[in-house]
Formats: sequence, C-alpha cells, structure tokens
Amino acid sequence: MHIILSVGGSAINPNGEPDLNFLKTMAQIIKKSKNSFGILTGGGSLARVHANTVRKLGGSEYEADQIAIASTRQNAQLMIAALKGAGVKTCGNVLTSFDNAAEHATENKVVVMGGTIPGITTDADAVLLAEAIGAKKLVNISNVDAIYDSDPRKNPKAKKYTIMDYDQLNKLAAESDTRKAGMHFVFDMLACKLIARSGIETHFVSGNKMNDVTNAIEGKKHSGTIVK
Ligand code: UTP
Repeated sequence: MHIILSVGGSAINPNGEPDLNFLKTMAQIIKKSKNSFGILTGGGSLARVHANTVRKLGGSEYEADQIAIASTRQNAQLMIAALKGAGVKTCGNVLTSFDNAAEHATENKVVVMGGTIPGITTDADAVLLAEAIGAKKLVNISNVDAIYDSDPRKNPKAKKYTIMDYDQLNKLAAESDTRKAGMHFVFDMLACKLIARSGIETHFVSGNKMNDVTNAIEGKKHSGTIVK
C-alpha cells in the first residue's frame, strides 16, 4: 500500500539545523515497513528565513515562495540521503512534478518531493501527491502531537481530538484562518478540502514521538489524531 508521509520542516530542522537522529530513524522505519511511500517535505524555519530575506530585499511574494520551495527541496534531499544511507530504493533525486512521482512510484519503494508551485504549501502538495499516486492514507509528521480544539500552548484546557471527520477538521481550519496573521493551523485549508474530496485517511503525529509515527504508518493505535 502507498502511504504519504508529509514531513514538516520543523521535524527535519527543529533548531535551525538538520536533526540527524530524526532522519536516520525515519529511514529505518521506512526500511522495516512493507508499505511503499511518497514523502513530501516542508520547509519550516529554513523556508521562512529565506523568504523573509527576499521580501526585505524588495522581492515579490512569488519570489519569496520560490526560494521557500527551494528550502523544501533541500529538506527533501536530506530525506533521500538518509534513505540511501539506509539502503532503501528511492527515486534517486527530488521530483518536481506529480506526474513524474506517479511514474516512479511503481518501481521504487519511496518517491520524494518538496514544494511545487508558488502560492500553496506542502500540506496541499502532500495531498496532491496522494491523489497522483493513488494513496489513501497520509501521515502528517510535525512538531504538534495531535489536533486540539484550541492552541494547547496557550490554553491548558485545550481538548485533543483522537478521531474526527473531514467536516470537523474543515470547520476548525476555517476558524483558525480568520484569526490574526502569524497564527497557523496544523493543516492548511486547501489540504483539508483535498483530503475530504478524495477520502484520504489522515493521521497527525509528532516527530518527537517516533513510536506514534511508526504506529500511524503500520495501522496501530497512536496518541495523535485520525481524520477520516
Ligand atoms: P511549508 O509547507 O513548509 O510551509 O512551505 P509552512 O506553512 O511554513 O509549514 P511548516 O512551518 O513547515 O509546518 C514553506 C513555504 O514554501 C512555499 C510557501 O511560501 C510556504 O509557506 N511553498 C511551499 C510554495 O510556495 N509552494 C509549495 O508548493 C510549497
């Protein structure tokens, strides 16, 4: 079965530099799994810093997005290096189109992509990759361990969802979207709509809890959130 792993930049570069242990552990989890994978890497702080520099230099939002996409692809390259180091058969380099990914997905255990076009985020890319290669399950790995009804860092009474449906997720994403700039929901609105239209079961887990990552991939119980 094809599974999409949407790996946040925050998990790959938690403190502004690559987390070697995370990358090696991800590679081992993938190696041991009987599934095949499509990996979509985010940019995190690496992308934000570069996009902001372009803006300060007078660049357009389009140009800021372009350099941010380059950062997501740099993280994708790190995933490929980790997989190669573990002896896992990959597409060889970072793919830049979903059509290409669909072609390579048949003969490789793993295909890896970063961002694609300005104006969207890697959340949406991950779902598009799922649609392109026919994956019905997506595991979102970030620095947030689940979906809550409000920000758990600000509200100690925030309620964690163990399971929710697409409508509930869409409603929460829309509510967060109306809050002030800089606040951003764990999964963007376009991505929420895309998983709903294709019925993609989506698991939200943290890269700080690698047992949850393994369990989500292998269909076992975990402490994150399942949306279906
Ligand atoms: P991310 O998906 O990593 O954005 O893409 P994010 O919302 O900052 O996610 P976290 O913080 O990693 O969870 C980084 C940036 O790259 C550009 C956008 O500017 C986005 O904010 N990008 C990414 C695109 O323009 N197109 C894409 O297809 C992907």
